[in-house]
Amino acid sequence: MTIDSDSFRSVLGRFASGITVVTTVDASGRDVGMTVSAFSSVSLHPPLVQVCIDKAASMYAALMTAERFGINILSSEQESLSRRFAAVDSQHRFEGVGYARGESGVVLLTDALAHIECRRQAHFDAGDHTLFIGEVERATAGDGRPMLYYRGGYAQLER
Ligand SMILES: Cc1cc2nc3c(=O)[nH]c(=O)nc-3n(C[C@H](O)[C@H](O)[C@H](O)COP(=O)(O)O)c2cc1C
Repeated sequence: MTIDSDSFRSVLGRFASGITVVTTVDASGRDVGMTVSAFSSVSLHPPLVQVCIDKAASMYAALMTAERFGINILSSEQESLSRRFAAVDSQHRFEGVGYARGESGVVLLTDALAHIECRRQAHFDAGDHTLFIGEVERATAGDGRPMLYYRGGYAQLER
């Protein structure tokens, strides 16, 4: 049995997630980034995380070649960044956005709830997406509340 795309989306939308912006530097030295909700922890020892990226995404080639990438976990105040990094032309996504650069050289967005810097450890073909596994080299957590995504819309924690 196969499931049609609308039903599949509708079922998966019942899984509430946080939102991240994944960043890296492409082969020409340009910053690239995109909004990603398909992020999860993988392993504690060693510390591994994963992101699942559409092969059609403009930063896909950069993730395949860059040794390192960053993951910015967005706070409840950063819905506009989530929208921006999913919709604004990829050439202009960082314009007017506050950020610092991590030791690995990747962009770390100002006021994100947490920052993770990874070394790409492996990647696995997964249908129209690729799973990128990152070994966590540095990570910092801030205070605040997370931005959530549920059933195709932005949501907030009520606790
Ligand atoms: C809330 C949200 C979550 C998203 N999660 C993912 C994801 O996990 N993986 C993915 O490949 N794209 C995801 N996207 C879509 C990408 O952000 C978007 O397709 C990407 O920025 C494409 O733009 P580009 O190819 O012009 O760079 C998400 C978009 C939004 C708004």
